[in-house]
Amino acid sequence: MKSFNRTTVTAALPYANGPIHIGHLAGCYLPADIYVRYLRMLGQDVAFVCGSDEHGMAITMKARSENISPSVIVNRYNDMMRNSLDAFGVSFDIYSRTSSPKHAEVAQSFFRKLNEKGTLQVRETEQYYDPEAEQFLADRYITGTCPNCKSKNAYGDQCEKCGTTLSPLDLIDPKSTLSKATPVMKKTKNWFLPLDKLSPQIRSYIEGHPEWKSNVLGQCKSWLDSGEGLQPRSMTRDLDWGVPVPVEGAEGKVLYVWFDAPLGYITATQELHGDDWEKWWKSDDTRLVHFIGKDNIVFHAIIFPALLMEHGDYILPEDIPANEFLNLEGDKLSTSKNWAVWLHEYLEDFPGNQDALRYALCATMPEAKDNDFTWSDFQIRNNSELVAILGNLVNRVMVLNNKYYQGIVQEPGTSPSDAHLMASIAVHSGKVSDSLKAYRFREALTEAMNLARLGNKYLADEEPWKKMKTDPKRTAEIMGTVTQFIAAISGIFDPFIPFSAEKIRSMLGIGALLWSDLDGRTLLSPGSKISEPRLLFEKIEDHQVETQKAKLKKTS
Ligand code: MF3
Ligand code: ZN
Repeated sequence: MKSFNRTTVTAALPYANGPIHIGHLAGCYLPADIYVRYLRMLGQDVAFVCGSDEHGMAITMKARSENISPSVIVNRYNDMMRNSLDAFGVSFDIYSRTSSPKHAEVAQSFFRKLNEKGTLQVRETEQYYDPEAEQFLADRYITGTCPNCKSKNAYGDQCEKCGTTLSPLDLIDPKSTLSKATPVMKKTKNWFLPLDKLSPQIRSYIEGHPEWKSNVLGQCKSWLDSGEGLQPRSMTRDLDWGVPVPVEGAEGKVLYVWFDAPLGYITATQELHGDDWEKWWKSDDTRLVHFIGKDNIVFHAIIFPALLMEHGDYILPEDIPANEFLNLEGDKLSTSKNWAVWLHEYLEDFPGNQDALRYALCATMPEAKDNDFTWSDFQIRNNSELVAILGNLVNRVMVLNNKYYQGIVQEPGTSPSDAHLMASIAVHSGKVSDSLKAYRFREALTEAMNLARLGNKYLADEEPWKKMKTDPKRTAEIMGTVTQFIAAISGIFDPFIPFSAEKIRSMLGIGALLWSDLDGRTLLSPGSKISEPRLLFEKIEDHQVETQKAKLKKTS
């Protein structure tokens, strides 16, 4: 077993071509944040880095559709994405961006090193070129008839009608999407990463990680074992938006977006830690973990590790806990079709209620297979779990403490039922730990909620509201015990619903907790004073759900 002293956690850099929606959040930012908050509670050293991905065709196509320059697009969405993620409590240590001059330096020096080592192979190939727009046409800039289904609007990389993967040369009657001109073939030079040659190293790296999630291993194996095996892939493009290729003879070319973007994790770490950054990427006792969605698996499990291996100075990803996709009300989320729940709109409709969405998304997270988010499920999760179980427990404890003792914390009891309740904290924090370590976020959340259920059961069994009249001494013990219990509950829920966990602690007058505090010990001093109850969760009404559903229908 390797032993690690720190963890570098990355979350996929989102393309700055649109706002953040629930699919992004459930797919990678929420699990990454839960995981990081948990590691911090363990007292571990963590660097949690992210930023926006500001190159590639996702950006240039969006800019073209609005007839403005790519820089306007990325500036618009970079701020918006940062703000939404921040508002949802995604606790990055840094949120950077790949259009910065510093990032260009990092990416260029990495490229130069691979080029000087002889890793990259320069090849001349023939590519489609638009003689009117005077530009080479990569994948999406070219349309034509699909050779498979004969649909007229297939792209150079894929036919969306029948799903076939294509290359531009497959298209019948190709047309440039820039000018509608018929493209011509023209010679161009590009720098290729010879994945075919590197395949044995990549295979042994992946085979060294049998513990990875099965959806991740499954994709890796199908790439490695596919008919023709791994193919060389060009790390440069004939485009004008991106990081310029820093070698002679590459004028007018930029780095492939999937070359520069993952290096954005490194740039962000440099910005975060300054001269002290290297240990987060180059030290054997650092664990590197990438949170991503399933469409990013090949880039993080094969291409990026190949680049890191060839460079030679870097550690490799230790784990890549990719999620599958989240659907919305039975349909695929889509930015272009506006079939999405946007975080900035949710914030307007449910102000201050970020935890309800965090909770529902964690409970339906597409961990092992695609999963569906529905507004009625959201309502049920909120009303019958957050409100009815956790909110109810905390509220009853706060109300009774104020009513009976003017908010003064009582001495906890030592009867078997008290001891049993307090012992359940360690049992459940252990289960939540085991699940989180294995990236089983849904199971972890279920265990946390099960602990809250035990608190309600304890109150229902002990009935302090009845005993207050007959046995005030025992009542004080019960209340003392359950008050300690909700302090621990705030710790266990902290990674999942940090705003509410913090609210519970502020009512109790205590500060942040460590995971090691969640072993059944006393967290509040008897005799200290807690505040009046404050509302933790609000019930979500049918009309709110209807409004949200109607909003979807309007724009789809
Ligand atoms: N922008 C890509 C996407 O949204 C993810 C880039 S991840 C990184 O799919 F590693 F390249 F940064
Ligand atoms: Zn087709």
